[in-house]
Amino acid sequence: MLQSIKWENGTVFILDQRLLPEKIEYLKCTHYEEIAQAIENLSIRGAPAIGIAAAYAIAVASLSAKSFSSEEFLSDLNPVFQRLINTRPTAVNIKWAVDRIKKLIENNLSLSVTELRDMVIEEAIKIHEEDIQVNRKIGENLIHLFKDGCTVITYCNAGALATGGYGTATAPMYLAKERGINFKVIACETRPVLQGARITAFELMQAGIDVTLICDNTAGALLRKGMIDFAIVGTDRTVRNGDVANKIGTYSLAVLCKENNVPFYVAAPLSSIDMSISTGDMIPIEERASEEVTNIKGVRIAPEGVKVINFAFDVTPANYVTAIVTEKGVFKPEELRFKL
Ligand code: MRU
Repeated sequence: MLQSIKWENGTVFILDQRLLPEKIEYLKCTHYEEIAQAIENLSIRGAPAIGIAAAYAIAVASLSAKSFSSEEFLSDLNPVFQRLINTRPTAVNIKWAVDRIKKLIENNLSLSVTELRDMVIEEAIKIHEEDIQVNRKIGENLIHLFKDGCTVITYCNAGALATGGYGTATAPMYLAKERGINFKVIACETRPVLQGARITAFELMQAGIDVTLICDNTAGALLRKGMIDFAIVGTDRTVRNGDVANKIGTYSLAVLCKENNVPFYVAAPLSSIDMSISTGDMIPIEERASEEVTNIKGVRIAPEGVKVINFAFDVTPANYVTAIVTEKGVFKPEELRFKL
C-alpha cells in the first residue's frame, strides 16, 4: 500500500497526490514551509494526513531551530504553528496536531532544547503511528455492515492516502477484503478536483477491491434504483451537535441517502472531532481558487471571466447522519456531546 507521508531521519517525503494516478512521485521536504505549501496546494490532503504533515512540519522546524533556551524554542516555533494552522481552515486535524505538540512543549519547559527537540520528533512519529491504529479501530467498528453481495457508496477520498494507514471510510473496505467478504464500492468522482476518480478509485483498485466510478450526479439514480446498501464518508470536522463538515457535495449525497432510506455513516477519528464548536454553521469553510472549477487538469472548460463559487467543503446537518463512527465506538450524532 502506498504511503501518503514518510519520515526518514529528519526528511519528510510527501506523495504528490496532484499527480495521481498517472505518476507516483514523492516530494522531499526539509523545511516546514515546503510542507505548508504541500498542504495548501493539495500535494497532501485529507484531514488526518494533513494533521500528520503538520506534526512533521513542526519536527522539521524544531531540527533547524537555533534557540538557546526552552522558552525561546517555544517562541521560535510560534510562527510555524500559525503558518500551519492558516494553510487549510476547515480540517481541524491541523490545529489538533499543533495544539498537542505545543502543549507538550509548554508542559516540559524544564527540559533542555535538545531534549525538547527529540520529544517533538517522537511526538510527531507517535501522531502518525496512532493514526494507523485509529484507522484500524474505525474499520473494526464498521465491518459489521459488510455482508456478502453488499454495495457501499463513498465520496471524495477518505482512504489510505488521506490518512496514515487504512483510511477512515475505506478502513472497513480493506478489512472486508482481507476477510474475503464479497462487496462492491461506488466511488463518486468528486468535482472539482476529482479526489474520488483520481485517488479513491486508484487506491481501491491497487488493493484489488471491486470499485466502480460514477459522476457525482449519478448517485441519486443509483440510490433510487436500490443499488446501494449504505454510504460511508469521512469528515474534516465534526462538531458537538453531530453536524459534519466534509468535501463539497457530501451534503447532497446525505440528502439523497435519507430520501431513499439508505444509511449514511461518517467515519470520524477523534482528531477530526471539534467539541469546542456547537453547530456546523460555525465551522470555517475553505474557499479555493476559481481555476479548480473552470479547469480540469489544467485544461479550461468554462468561458474566460465566468463567475465561480468554489467552497471546498459543506456541512451535513446531524439529522442526515445515521451514525458517527470513531475509534472509541459508534455514536448517534446527538450522543456525541454526552459520550466523548
Ligand atoms: O480537500 P481534501 O481532499 O483535503 O478533502 C478531503 C475530504 O473531504 C475527506 O473526505 C476528509 O478529509 C476525510 S479524510 C479521512
